[in-house]
Amino acid sequence: MSPLAWALTGLAGAIALSLLLPGWLGGVWSPTPKDVARIMLDLAQPHAGEHLVDLGCGDGRLLILAARQGLQATGYEINPFWRLWIFAKAALLGLQGSIKVKGTDLFQASLEDTQIVTVFLSQAALNRLEPIFAKQLPPGARIVTYEKVLPGWTALKAVEVRPGKWVYLYGKEQQS
Ligand SMILES: C[S@@+](CC[C@H](N)C(=O)[O-])C[C@H]1O[C@@H](n2cnc3c(N)ncnc32)[C@H](O)[C@@H]1O
Repeated sequence: MSPLAWALTGLAGAIALSLLLPGWLGGVWSPTPKDVARIMLDLAQPHAGEHLVDLGCGDGRLLILAARQGLQATGYEINPFWRLWIFAKAALLGLQGSIKVKGTDLFQASLEDTQIVTVFLSQAALNRLEPIFAKQLPPGARIVTYEKVLPGWTALKAVEVRPGKWVYLYGKEQQS
């Protein structure tokens, strides 16, 4: 193989690994379909100026939707390729003032000033996040999850967005 072919193979391998390895941490990359992302945001009934956090933000689609609706949006994403992608896309769309992406582990996120959290991660990750939400989120905060549930919390709403696939809305003050 030529040096260029080796380099391209190495790059492709690195990208594939960076997409799959986070599966052990919170969930592999798998994008929320765009129509579902819109439903998730609508369910939270966002107001301009509110702060949305997407925990494990992937390619940043929820951040971009939120920023377009006048929200401040922060994503936590362990994969540097996606952080770079979001940085470039936000700049291209003129949304760089409304979108931040952090490379910190999402379980270290600080959520005290967050009104809306969106999550599309493994059930194990949601189980770990539950006490963090209970401790950190302010009253009135909304959490929207795709496919997985927040253990011990009663959903305010549940919408079947695909056969057998649900989006759940939780409210901080509704915690049971
Ligand atoms: C299922 S994808 C969801 C992407 C995006 N939220 C969406 O709805 O389209 C999960 C993302 O979380 C990231 N991730 C997994 N564990 C993480 C961790 N511990 N800290 C930060 N990001 C993590 C993965 O790299 C992946 O991009």
